[in-house]
Amino acid sequence: MNPEKILTQHYNPETGDLTGGAKVVRTLKDVRSSFQDQVAVDRILEHENPVLYEVVAVEPGDTPGDLHYGLGILYPGMVGNEYYLTKGHYHETREAAEVYIGLTGEGAMLLEDEETGESRLESLGAGNVVYVPGHTAHRTMNTGNTPLTYFGIYPSNAGHDYGALAERNFRKMLIDEDGTPTLMDRA
Ligand SMILES: [Fe+2]
Repeated sequence: MNPEKILTQHYNPETGDLTGGAKVVRTLKDVRSSFQDQVAVDRILEHENPVLYEVVAVEPGDTPGDLHYGLGILYPGMVGNEYYLTKGHYHETREAAEVYIGLTGEGAMLLEDEETGESRLESLGAGNVVYVPGHTAHRTMNTGNTPLTYFGIYPSNAGHDYGALAERNFRKMLIDEDGTPTLMDRA
């Protein structure tokens, strides 16, 4: 064990702050192609470019067996009738799994199996732990009125692959239907 290595970091679930890493900020412009309703996107961008989410990743080591982890904060909001969401990704190392731990708020994870194309919706919020198997695209949505914060813990060699989803997006989308989060086929 390297005595120089910092093993303890500090986080604030209310603000999404986490020591030991740099914060990455994603605005509506950054993720606009993830939303179905492009007219609604343009309507919002005429006035403002809201921050949708922020992530801080901590990478304590890169040798086999090491883990990385990140704290995400996804703000509440809608684009048309679709909840604010993260871009979503596969892992570059497809077999790499991940554990998500909900800290505050109410939300969900959309999982899509790369082989079968099947989708699953899992609750992610305070009190939920979600295991994301390998070979599975994953995206987070905020279905509540307060920030959704969560930890993700993953193998150091997982990597992020956004390209495949940037081209065709997820097959399903989560929309608000009369106040109820409802999974629909994306057009
Ligand atoms: Fe991931």
